[in-house]
Amino acid sequence: MKIMFYDTKPYDKIWFQPMGEQMGFKIKFQEVKLNEDTAVLARGYDAVCIFVNDDARKEAIQVLSEVGVKTILLRCSGFNNVDLKTAQNLGIQVLRVPSYSPEAVAEYTMGLLLTVNRQIHRAYIRTKDFNFNINGLMGIDLVGKTAGVIGTGKIGQMMIDILKGFKMRILAYDPYPIDGLGVEYADLDRLFQESDVISLHCPLTKDTKHIINKQSIRKMKDGVILVNTSRGALIHTPDLIEALMERKFAGVGLDVYEEEDEYFFEDKSNDIITDEDLIRLTSFRNVVLTSHQAFFTRDAMEAIARVTLENARAVDAGEELKNLVMP
Ligand code: NAI
Repeated sequence: MKIMFYDTKPYDKIWFQPMGEQMGFKIKFQEVKLNEDTAVLARGYDAVCIFVNDDARKEAIQVLSEVGVKTILLRCSGFNNVDLKTAQNLGIQVLRVPSYSPEAVAEYTMGLLLTVNRQIHRAYIRTKDFNFNINGLMGIDLVGKTAGVIGTGKIGQMMIDILKGFKMRILAYDPYPIDGLGVEYADLDRLFQESDVISLHCPLTKDTKHIINKQSIRKMKDGVILVNTSRGALIHTPDLIEALMERKFAGVGLDVYEEEDEYFFEDKSNDIITDEDLIRLTSFRNVVLTSHQAFFTRDAMEAIARVTLENARAVDAGEELKNLVMP
């Protein structure tokens, strides 16, 4: 099988290159992202391998089909960037990595929560400048406080385990509750009203888009902490910014951003940033924004490469595809 990789960085090759060679795949790594203009580069390839910010909407998939691509291998779990219906209609199979390291994402989420609560990001900068004053860096104890977890899938469950270690009371919301998690499920309204900390772990769907908006923020406690390591569009950013200006949040930790595809994973430090919401978000002292790196551990990267290439092997061998994504 010949596989064209899009949106690759040096760290993608560390595992994919040797594993791919060992399994007999012919791989080409492209730095450009997939979109309707770059899809043509896959001419002569059987499959494309894409990541979270590649654009596999209708137009791009139509071009992929025209140039003979039969398989889209997602090297991630989310698939909100793929038009599954068009892919199905054109006979293109879409496979993903449903789980690689929920631990990596949950551990990072806790890191973001601790950072914004205890303002470690500000303390780091202060002491670098020999400013040893701790004025304004006060946080809260997490023990005994209420954490609201939205989405109790693999990452949400791991996050719940971590929060339990901090002896927090946990309220959870998921349309498909799971027995035996040892948490109290509540409706979203109650979760918003009672939580001191809210962490998002649901996928981006039409039901969850902008789940954090002016109305839901209004229901939250003053001084709440919000953490999002799931998908940027779960939050309506202008509403978040407005609430930040009204001092609603004690802290906000974001690893994802609705308009991230133009910026995240790239060095834009020599450019003029024109996205005003992004500029505004990074200007708040109580917001920590990182570049979609919650997954980024050696263990997770190795697992992603292994499962992605195993998906490719199963396609090649005509086996049953357990990681197929259907519309
Ligand atoms: P999962 O599929 O195991 O769990 C998702 C959970 O969300 C399920 O329990 C599902 O029932 C629930 N859900 C569905 N609709 C919902 C709704 N309307 N409200 C509340 N919950 C709802 O997925 P997993 O592995 O836990 O991943 C969660 C999300 O994390 C992914 O969809 C992805 O967007 C994000 N992610 C982010 C990464 C990062 O590096 N920042 C890395 C990996 C995943």
